[in-house]
Amino acid sequence: MATTELIDLAVKTSENAYVPYSHFPIGAVLVTAEGKIYTGVNVENASFGLTNCGERTAIFKAVSEGERSFKELIIYGQTEKPVSPCGACRQVMAEFFEPDLPVTLVAKDKSTVVMTVKELLPYSFTDLT
Ligand code: THU
Repeated sequence: MATTELIDLAVKTSENAYVPYSHFPIGAVLVTAEGKIYTGVNVENASFGLTNCGERTAIFKAVSEGERSFKELIIYGQTEKPVSPCGACRQVMAEFFEPDLPVTLVAKDKSTVVMTVKELLPYSFTDLT
């Protein structure tokens, strides 16, 4: 799904992560329906609970620029197996992405797993009715 270029961009993006506490950088690349790219990293805080995950940073950057239609998301972490996004980020994906949008999860050796938003968060909370 994701091209080598997009995976390499996620790796490169992770260099911008602000991770003085966990030392666990995440790089995310979000591609809009029109092909525009938004990157994101995790941004930590001395008050740990204020940390924003990399994939949520990318999503919030795009949404705050007016984007509402997306094609794919790539998430890189220095993990042995392709990085597994946290529950909060899965819920944010469900808010803005179609259920079948592909999310490419990338490990430190650049091995990948592709999962849809629906696979990552089945039976998600999507509206109040
Ligand atoms: N983190 C992410 O950026 N994305 C995830 O899906 C999981 C966790 C970050 C948060 C924190 O900065 C570090 O990884 C360790 O939890």
